[in-house]
Amino acid sequence: MSSAFGRGYGRYYDLLYQDKDYEAECDMLEELFQAYLDERPELILDAGCGTGGHAIPLAKRGYRVVGVDASEAMIARAREKAAREGLEGRVEFYVMDLRELALNRTFDACICMFAVLSYITENRDLAQVLANIREHLRPGGLFIMDFWYGPAVLTIRPSVRVKVAEGEGLRVVRFAHPHLDTLRHTCEVHYRLLVLRGRELVDEVKEVHVVRYFFPQELRHYLEERGFRLLKLCPFMDLEGEPSEHTWNVMAIAKAV
Ligand SMILES: C[S@@+](CC[C@H](N)C(=O)[O-])C[C@H]1O[C@@H](n2cnc3c(N)ncnc32)[C@H](O)[C@@H]1O
Repeated sequence: MSSAFGRGYGRYYDLLYQDKDYEAECDMLEELFQAYLDERPELILDAGCGTGGHAIPLAKRGYRVVGVDASEAMIARAREKAAREGLEGRVEFYVMDLRELALNRTFDACICMFAVLSYITENRDLAQVLANIREHLRPGGLFIMDFWYGPAVLTIRPSVRVKVAEGEGLRVVRFAHPHLDTLRHTCEVHYRLLVLRGRELVDEVKEVHVVRYFFPQELRHYLEERGFRLLKLCPFMDLEGEPSEHTWNVMAIAKAV
């Protein structure tokens, strides 16, 4: 059993999420840049960038992007993809834990997409990560994140899920068994990946991901404590909508004050 986003999971991440529309998400990010920044951002920090799902398309759209992630496997993948696209000058990737973020640069915007902050489960760490991100933003800089929304997690409740993804001659079957801890506001998800080539089992990966869900006032408190103003909470990819107890993925948009 390895920790989250290790070599095994990292290898199959892009295959598992090939249905995720990163281009559409980047369209939405650009809409938010336009709505909440005076100028088009020059330099963007992708905090918890994974395999570069947002960083690479944003670099292709002309932004300069720095992506950081704690997982070596995910960063290795991101670098390979950027090199393949000839983007070396526009996007950089570093293995770095957000709790120790230190880039010595100031960014116009920071994105933290696909529940990255939900992987920061301890209060002290969350406060530290937000302080670190704030330190890397210019005053007025934009912070965009999405997360598991507590009211919905407790209403819908996590259930056993099976996802099947196919590509590169492989079939990946992922089983997810969740264990909710309502005192810690976390869900421990036990993942098991079976990788098949035809009928042959060629790989098996097990990982446990501990994911924290946040409540609106809790998140507002952490953001305000660390020098942000919360501008908006909305359902993921629905900038006009209101989160409800049925909205599992919610976005927070905040400004560095
Ligand atoms: C669900 S993935 C999202 C990746 C990417 N943002 C995307 O949209 O595809 C969560 C990512 O957060 C990273 N992560 C979790 N905790 C982290 C930490 N403390 N510091 C840096 N990265 C972290 C993981 O390694 C993983 O790549």
